[in-house]
Amino acid sequence: MSKRDDDSLRPATKLVQGGRRPEWTGDPRLGGSIVNPPVWRASTILYDSIADLKARGHATHDKLYYGRRGTPTVWALADALTALEPGAEGTLLYPSGVAANSAGLLALLSPGDHLLMVDSAYEPTRAFCNGMLARMGVRTSFYDPLVGAGIAELIEPETRLIFLESPGSLTFEVQDIPAITAVARTRGVLTMLDNTWATPLLFPALAHGVDVAMMSLTKYAGGHSDAMMGSLTATKAVWPKLRQAAYQLGQAVSPDDCALILRGLRTLDVRMARHGENGLAVANWLAGRAEVGRVLHPALPGDRGHELWTRDFKGTSGLFGFTLKGADEAARTRFIDALDHFGIGFSWGGYESLVVPSNPADIRTARVWSDPDPLVRLSVGLEDPADLIADLARGLAAL
Ligand SMILES: Cc1ncc(COP(=O)(O)O)c(C=O)c1O
Repeated sequence: MSKRDDDSLRPATKLVQGGRRPEWTGDPRLGGSIVNPPVWRASTILYDSIADLKARGHATHDKLYYGRRGTPTVWALADALTALEPGAEGTLLYPSGVAANSAGLLALLSPGDHLLMVDSAYEPTRAFCNGMLARMGVRTSFYDPLVGAGIAELIEPETRLIFLESPGSLTFEVQDIPAITAVARTRGVLTMLDNTWATPLLFPALAHGVDVAMMSLTKYAGGHSDAMMGSLTATKAVWPKLRQAAYQLGQAVSPDDCALILRGLRTLDVRMARHGENGLAVANWLAGRAEVGRVLHPALPGDRGHELWTRDFKGTSGLFGFTLKGADEAARTRFIDALDHFGIGFSWGGYESLVVPSNPADIRTARVWSDPDPLVRLSVGLEDPADLIADLARGLAAL
């Protein structure tokens, strides 16, 4: 049994061992193996003979065929991610998280189909539904992230897919994923989850009934703000459809970027624990400040998603939001501009703390965001939380 096949191993061990198959890390002629799968860059693969070329077959995923089908560096990352999701058949890699979401939706939906999309989805996911999917003749209904088993009433005869994201982008609603996937299974509808916030370490998606788990590897998996990539990890039933679509769309990722993401993945367990701890320290401090309205963090007791989060999640990451009580846009800008240790920038999940203003009211349709106080999103990094808190105190003083 290869290491990747050992489902009894715990996630932290799998992170260390994933993708390090002997055939990818060593060559008996060199007398040993190296720790990390090396960067195999390739477009052309040379065959020994025409017979060899013919024998290789188009569908291969772990024998060299042509650069676009990957090299051992790419397979090593895919393998390592598959190992983290019990029940998964395989993982496909895409040049970004957005590309992974779009490719998954394209693979699973056809003209005339109906899609149930969570209202708290990442904005470009919504845009893909309203843009390319609509143009293709796929109808999207946005649903309340708190709908739970009530999703049953929203399923139409043409509904083929329910898309989930939990906690939701910007507003961090926790969905009742087991209730939704149970309904979906009895009605023959597929489910796909954007699991970027939790990663399989905090929420093994397939074990909770999800058919396709998506991650932006750009965030926590990579963890160092220097590479972009996305992944889809799927059950045996869905995997062939996703793979065929990825091939037809020509989705390929760079082996150099795979090596960067693999390097990040090795330390995901320790980073995630520290991100969660630091984030909670900062969130608790903010919750006690008079200038702060609401702190949107499912790990805080009293948060509307706390009960579901406690039931389903194994921990917390470091991304959350909070409102500035009675402040206006100009005050929010003064607050953010006054911060020294939080970079102003998109993305999240890197080792460094980030801050952005967010405006969910502009995009929501099913669960309207009506809080008048301006919202701020923090990605809490690996700095000492005492320094981050002192920085936030400076920001609040500038309100
Ligand atoms: C929840 C979520 N999903 C997907 C993405 C897209 O990932 P990428 O930036 O790798 O395209 C993001 C990016 O911010 C995100 O926040």
